[in-house]
Amino acid sequence: MTQKSFPISAEFMAAANTTPDKYVTDYQQSIESPEAIDAFWAKRAELIDWIKKPTKVSNVNYDLDDFRIKWFEDGELNISVNCLDRHLEENPYKPAIIWEGDHPSLHKIISFKELHEAVCRLGNSLRKLGVVKGDRVTLYMPMIPEAMVAMLACARIGAVHSVVFGGFSAESLGNRLIDSRSKVVITADEGLRGGKHTPLKANVDHALDMDGTESVEKVIVVHRTGNSIPMSGRRDVWYHNLVDGQSEICEPEVMNAEDPLFLLYTSGSTGKPKGVVHTTGGYITYAISTFRDVFDIKEDDVYWCTADVGWITGHTYSTYAPLANGTTTVMFEGVPEHPTWARIGHIIDKHDVTILYTAPTAIRAMMKEGDAFVRESDRSSLRLLGSVGEPINPEAWDWYYNVVGDGKCPIVDTWWQTETGGILMAPIPGTVDLKPGAAMTPLYGVKPEIVDSDGAILEGPAEGNLVISSGWPGQMRTIYNDHPRFLKTYFSDYPGHYFTGDGAQRDEDGHYWITGRVDDVLNVAGHRLGTAEIESAVVAHPATAEAAIVGMPHEIRGTGICAFIILKSGEEKTDDLKAELKRHVRAEIGPIATLDAIYMVDALPKTRSGKIMRRILRNLAAGQYVGLGDLSTLADSSVINDLVEEVKAGR
Ligand code: WTA
Repeated sequence: MTQKSFPISAEFMAAANTTPDKYVTDYQQSIESPEAIDAFWAKRAELIDWIKKPTKVSNVNYDLDDFRIKWFEDGELNISVNCLDRHLEENPYKPAIIWEGDHPSLHKIISFKELHEAVCRLGNSLRKLGVVKGDRVTLYMPMIPEAMVAMLACARIGAVHSVVFGGFSAESLGNRLIDSRSKVVITADEGLRGGKHTPLKANVDHALDMDGTESVEKVIVVHRTGNSIPMSGRRDVWYHNLVDGQSEICEPEVMNAEDPLFLLYTSGSTGKPKGVVHTTGGYITYAISTFRDVFDIKEDDVYWCTADVGWITGHTYSTYAPLANGTTTVMFEGVPEHPTWARIGHIIDKHDVTILYTAPTAIRAMMKEGDAFVRESDRSSLRLLGSVGEPINPEAWDWYYNVVGDGKCPIVDTWWQTETGGILMAPIPGTVDLKPGAAMTPLYGVKPEIVDSDGAILEGPAEGNLVISSGWPGQMRTIYNDHPRFLKTYFSDYPGHYFTGDGAQRDEDGHYWITGRVDDVLNVAGHRLGTAEIESAVVAHPATAEAAIVGMPHEIRGTGICAFIILKSGEEKTDDLKAELKRHVRAEIGPIATLDAIYMVDALPKTRSGKIMRRILRNLAAGQYVGLGDLSTLADSSVINDLVEEVKAGR
């Protein structure tokens, strides 16, 4: 914890939407009493156009025998109307999406009016295919405007979208299709990033060969690269043929506030990825409200969040929040290094971006390439920077602040999760001096607590597990198909609280510092991967008998993946097999699951009850061979010396 803090400039403060005093008063009100909480959120719900205004606000109880989470439960609305129709009268020609293609010569500006038309046409097409309210539609798409159009078209007709990140494998896609029992898949012929093609449609074909995917009736394919792909007669249709001739008027479905809006699969510490369910009224109220607070949004902002639509950040803060607020959102198809590392800066200048929201992993990668690339651009349009996805180390924070932001843009370090729907902690710009690496303060309505491993709530400066004792409108409602797992994962360890899975410290000033996951979830380049999920991919290879996966420090990605593998007898420990295993895991899960280190060992450190002692493996993976802590519970302590030798020798 570095305590050096950075004051916000007088110039920024003068124009900021929130003042330090206002934050303190409003925050206090937002958590004070059930009545005050309801009054706070009833006011925020006025940011939304309701078909039927809610008369009820919160209905939340974390006690397991009377558990419920409902917000605005008698309200009715349609989110696509909030994102589109309501801006048409005053601002029809304002850019809704500025799309920057993979190649710098290609960009498109789509007004709210054009976006509305595209959404209506696709909404009508989906209805024509028989998609009705409550049906699931899976999106497996590159970063092209049609991805946002498809999300909004689902929202318009009440279909529940499930976006699967385009970097996931056919197998991962298939598993998500099976769990969601989707009726339709929307994809593209290929994705294009940094000049490289990703075979999206071919992956869909492979996924649909899997048993259990029979629910899928249609595959809608966007023509992106034009390379030839097989289309199967009755099942596959081209997007452009489908929407051609459809009406630009599409009656929005009336949605109850608690009707589901989307599923988004994310990794947990055990088992298969879980389908996080978000609903309608609370989600959009929380999204727009936090967006305005945290990003200090003004009418003419050009806001760029670099997250892929396959992640929660791409849902809430690339798509729904900005569009509901009538803010121009920038969408980038490519990668920061293409054609050179100067690309991010060039895009900022080209589109006069005022707010940049990105991840520490991208910041570290750019930092490593040196300042000269960034200095190719002048970035004078920028006024605010954001960070999300993992703790940002102070060096990266400094570089982001001084080089990308030229020392004049506050950085909002935003802590939140797929489950939380929106940001829970961040320094609201203008309300507090910034401390590099700290998520600082809770947002309105959010009551964080730090607990010890017995669940005792710690006061004052403290370190422990982070729980939230309040409810907030954007929180997840359940795990799709598995409500018991939802209750067990989040509400059982610390009864009466939502358990985040993260550790945190609270400093002398009451500010929060997130220290990272305390469960078996890895945060690799800001992407969540379960160790159990990677282990089962490793042991699916015929040469392996057992595997243990742990995280290890990684210069760019924050956390790297380290595998300790026991081979089946008769298998030889060779570099070829290591390479083969690496390929295998990438094929099973996707390129984000790339093993950074593989040790082929003879035994794993286990307790007498057979549990792998991951703490020891984490130390070894980080190159710490001494001071391995208490080894008394090990079943066989002789394992350790061999392990240390094997790791040192890089076997
Ligand atoms: C981590 C991403 C520190 C954290 C929005 C959390 C962070 C997990 C921060 C959720 C941050 C996210 N500082 N850690 N500002 N933001 N995390 O579901 O461990 O992909 O639990 O949601 O990322 O990842 P997820």
